[in-house]
Amino acid sequence: RHDPPLPLPKKDHSGGDGDGDALTSNPMTGQRLYQGTWVMEGWIPGIVQIQNGGGFTPRRGDVILASPPKCGTTWLKALAFATMARGAHPPAAPDHPLLRHTPHDCVPFMEVIVSGGWGSKLDALPSPRLLSTHMPYSTLPASITKNPDCKIVYICRDPKDMVVSMWHFLRHPRPNLSFNDMFELTCEGRSLCGPFWDHILGYWNAGKTMSGDEGQPEMTSAAVLFLRYEEMIKDPANNVRKLARFVGQPFSAAEEETKVVDDIVDLCSFEKLSSLKVNKAGPVVFTKYPRESYFRRGGVGDWMNHMTPEMAHRFDALLQSKFHGSGLDL
Ligand code: A3P
Repeated sequence: RHDPPLPLPKKDHSGGDGDGDALTSNPMTGQRLYQGTWVMEGWIPGIVQIQNGGGFTPRRGDVILASPPKCGTTWLKALAFATMARGAHPPAAPDHPLLRHTPHDCVPFMEVIVSGGWGSKLDALPSPRLLSTHMPYSTLPASITKNPDCKIVYICRDPKDMVVSMWHFLRHPRPNLSFNDMFELTCEGRSLCGPFWDHILGYWNAGKTMSGDEGQPEMTSAAVLFLRYEEMIKDPANNVRKLARFVGQPFSAAEEETKVVDDIVDLCSFEKLSSLKVNKAGPVVFTKYPRESYFRRGGVGDWMNHMTPEMAHRFDALLQSKFHGSGLDL
């Protein structure tokens, strides 16, 4: 079944005042405001279909990787794929799929796939499916969030590094976008998938309502595991173990003995993935961005090379005002 993309919605779907067409566009970034979030215009048909239950039917065992853009999505996709597929594809195998396909081709973005009319590809994936999304928690359908058979893994990153990474990324299609403009857009909540604080807090609060530090499910909700890029950089192996436990595939003693976790970390390292031909040449099939643009530099703290002390101070004050009282220290 190939679901044709829907036309852009004419009405405000945000549940707000409902006073006519509430979509707002930003020609500088090609984004539109949809249900309170700035998304790429081309994703909206897919988001609408997913929300209406037409483009995607959740299945028992589904694992959905969620993130704001430029916060380590590509890395998380690789790690989760290598972890969940390790039975069929040992991470040290010379023909591992991640050596031949980009992480984005191994783990598709639901809204992009459905927008493109390729919803049937999601149906055809074997269980347990591994999918991804940039959709905020509030825009996910209840068939996912209220589904104890689904699991959500979220990754976020120091928002100051996210701004820098986003700026470099968006300059591929828009070379005239200045860092200052990117910074202002982000502070106004208008960066891609912004306001970023709503995106992060949506998943953080959903994860907080779970019992246990690894987001064990309430009986009525999808469990949420909240990961942080900086912690993964510090200790990738233990974060991979946490991920494996969360998806119900903990590493056995025999796997620990044979260093499977280290093999996964090595396979998915920035150095390894960015050196592969498949992650260099041409565009990612579904997103159309150059493959190499997903592997810029990696690591922590590049904001120091781009933000003035005044900018950093202003941004810290914004973080403090948005995350104060949430229990999340960003
Ligand atoms: P930088 O632009 O700071 O280098 P996303 O995948 O969400 O688009 O995020 C992209 C960011 O993750 C980029 O950050 C990119 O370099 C970094 N990244 C990509 N692959 C990585 C990996 N294997 N390990 C660590 N960071 C990675």
